Amino acid sequence: MWFVHFYNEVYKLAVVVKILVTGGAGFLGSHLCERLLVAGHEVLCVDNFFTGSKKNVAHLMHYFNFEVMRHDVTFPLYVEVNQIYNLACPASPIHYQYDPVQTTKTSVHGAINMLGLAKRLNARILQASTSEVYGDPEIHPQIENYWGRVNPIGMRSCYDEGKRCAETLFFDYWRQHKIEIKVMRIFNTYGPKMYPNDGRVVSNFIIQALRGEPLSIYGDGLQTRSFCYVDDLIDAMILMMSSQVDFTGPLNIGNPSEINMLELAELVIKLTSSKSKLVFKPLPQDDPRQRKPNIELAKAQLGGWEPKVCLLDGLRETIKYFQSQF
Ligand SMILES: NC(=O)c1ccc[n+]([C@@H]2O[C@H](COP(=O)([O-])OP(=O)(O)OC[C@H]3O[C@@H](n4cnc5c(N)ncnc54)[C@H](O)[C@@H]3O)[C@@H](O)[C@H]2O)c1
Repeated sequence: MWFVHFYNEVYKLAVVVKILVTGGAGFLGSHLCERLLVAGHEVLCVDNFFTGSKKNVAHLMHYFNFEVMRHDVTFPLYVEVNQIYNLACPASPIHYQYDPVQTTKTSVHGAINMLGLAKRLNARILQASTSEVYGDPEIHPQIENYWGRVNPIGMRSCYDEGKRCAETLFFDYWRQHKIEIKVMRIFNTYGPKMYPNDGRVVSNFIIQALRGEPLSIYGDGLQTRSFCYVDDLIDAMILMMSSQVDFTGPLNIGNPSEINMLELAELVIKLTSSKSKLVFKPLPQDDPRQRKPNIELAKAQLGGWEPKVCLLDGLRETIKYFQSQF
């Protein structure tokens, strides 16, 4: 607590940037709010708490430069800020498929509302886009100028196409209204404060292993993913926001080291010292076989940024978090 008091005193003397984080009470948003506050900024966290939780930001309430507002980004928002990070959108298939129409609205109307706000305020705006814009890709690893292979009418389309349309809106506002935009395509990210039971593979495996339940492998388990630890992602997000004005992205951010689901399951079982076995289930529709970012552009544009946290260390931190939640 002494740190927060000391911090609040120093803060009064500093020049601050007012930053809006939509989806600020979610997994990534809450880490971002924390990092921005510690860097001395004024942070407004806006969230409708669909998948986010007040618990994720409760420890930040002592900072007087932190504010939380319940608001749905599908409605216009009138606030005064200098920068906007637009993260609001459920990210896990279970959640975004729960109300697919609302998911598309959140991406599309949310983008229109936040871009309108950025235009009025002349604020810089960063969009949390996704590797899902590449769909089930024909090229591997994915580079930013690949246009993707997305099913427009499937179960995942509300998310994938919603995010693609949001990207279109960002670039049209940039061309038409000269707004300073940053579009970041986030690949699988994991870490503490992930929502439990939301079907994302890292949290799924860890929870199943901690409970001694069988780990669910979809398909043959040979499909690969690459996992980025949350701290590395937040570093990149903040760097991208302050990148050169003419750099818009899209920019891949993720960790290129690849692992298949069988290997990941074995690793989680080992790290949790669990006795869990594996259970094989049918592959969900449109589940991509491979997902791996090419991050050469990120390294070049973000001053040599690259992921620092290896999967083993990141998993240990994440397991510790989930153990503390039981
Ligand atoms: N975590 C990942 O691996 C990953 C990968 C690619 C992209 N992303 C993107 O990053 C962003 C954050 O993802 P996350 O993993 O933190 O997900 P999350 O579900 O934990 O966070 C999303 C937040 O947005 C809020 N939200 C949802 N709809 C809203 C609405 N209409 N109005 C206001 N708030 C709303 C939720 O309550 C939640 O707090 C999302 O836009 C997601 O698409 C995440």
